[in-house]
Amino acid sequence: MTASINLTNQNLKEGWIQKYKTAPQQLKKMAKVQGLISAFNANTDAVIKISGERIEELLKNHGLDEANLIRDGERQIRTKEDAMRGIIHCFRSGIAEEWLIEEEDVFNWLSEEIAYDKLQMGGQGGIVANVMAVCGVSPVYVHCASLPANQAGLFLDRENLISVDQNGKLQKAHSIDRRNDTPLVHWIIEFDKGDSLSCAGQTITCPKSNRFIATYDPLNFKLHIDEDFAEAMAVESDQVEIIVLSGYQMLRETLGDGSPGRERIDASLLTIDKWRSGKSGQLVHLEMASTQDKVMRKYLLDSLARRVDSLGFNERELIDLLEVMGEKDIAEICAVNTNSVNLFEGMLKLFSYTAVPRLQLHMFGLYLTIQKRDFMVGAEESRNGMQLAAVIAATKAGTGAIDSEEVLLWAKDRAVSDIGLQELKALSDHISKNFGANELPEKGIWANNEFELIAVPTILIDKPVTLVGMGDTISSISLVAAR
Ligand code: GLC
Repeated sequence: MTASINLTNQNLKEGWIQKYKTAPQQLKKMAKVQGLISAFNANTDAVIKISGERIEELLKNHGLDEANLIRDGERQIRTKEDAMRGIIHCFRSGIAEEWLIEEEDVFNWLSEEIAYDKLQMGGQGGIVANVMAVCGVSPVYVHCASLPANQAGLFLDRENLISVDQNGKLQKAHSIDRRNDTPLVHWIIEFDKGDSLSCAGQTITCPKSNRFIATYDPLNFKLHIDEDFAEAMAVESDQVEIIVLSGYQMLRETLGDGSPGRERIDASLLTIDKWRSGKSGQLVHLEMASTQDKVMRKYLLDSLARRVDSLGFNERELIDLLEVMGEKDIAEICAVNTNSVNLFEGMLKLFSYTAVPRLQLHMFGLYLTIQKRDFMVGAEESRNGMQLAAVIAATKAGTGAIDSEEVLLWAKDRAVSDIGLQELKALSDHISKNFGANELPEKGIWANNEFELIAVPTILIDKPVTLVGMGDTISSISLVAAR
């Protein structure tokens, strides 16, 4: 019995290695994209790998009340205890979360006590822009709320990657120096699977390598839109095929100046409408990201999300969306058993709620796309795009950086993961029982009258060098390479 299951897995893996062979071809097709705008958030990420031992040391040195640090609470940082509570919360469950820092003091405390190993490009908008540029999309226009030289230097040194300078002129992003702009820095605190720490008399072991993000970012907190960029894009957008949106996740119901966060979403809608006006065939994707404020999450879902062509999210972000849609039961089921079957059911709810033509989930080991039958890209093209995304995401995880064309396909001949295949087979069984026969494990594609489901098991890297920005990389490549 076991032997035959293994054999099946082996056969499936060989089949997927064959399908994945389209990766180099898909990459070449990305250079044919006419132009892309990545907006709105770019920032500097201060990345640090933290050990269980170091966390314990911080708790002791600062005399923090340990019992408070293992309680559930608001996902927000007002004090240094909150910062440590966030780290422990993510460490304990091996999950990724981002909490916003309210107080500059806490930001300074983190800078002094935690410091960083390296600075890298951060923010969905910044990360997507670099990825698209290195994959050959030309031109890539990137919106930056702030762009001093330190931030600009994190953009790849490429002619096809453009932003606006201090005079409002389009220029190579890497060389811009808007020197009066405020630097925006986010702390990316990564931890390793298997590491442990003791807190309040408990031993806590980390089940999965992941990260906690502590963000202090006055401009992106209010989705600041650079007027020069907005105007330049209203002109250039004739040449733009794809718009990738992100950066809404930091908004709050009420902003620091007392104004409602929803006004910022409305303002961005006007800007985006200008970029889209009179153009057909442009594809707009929104990367949801982890939006903590429920009022903003709901408003985003009911305003912007309904107007885009494509929506990207991970498992947690999907659960969060289901919650604000009033789908508490399925949200709870997905949270307790976060697997492909439950998440697929959750995606169906989101699909009918938003009527967005394309939804994409990236979860551990598997990507799922649901798209309308008449979506502008076919199922096979979508699958091939998702496969390229899996290769490049694995390259990023394995090598730590995807800064040059030569490295992009580093992971291309690797086998897909057992976890991914298991999830895929479970989903296939579920669909056989509830919808009808399918060949998902072999083909990764199944369709009914209403939608196509594309499911791709991914390549997993055992000891990833980095995980941050993975979702942005996966979503943007899956979409843009699907052709
Ligand atoms: C969030 C974080 C940012 C990070 C990005 C990665 O936007 O604030 O620092 O680079 O996620 O996806």
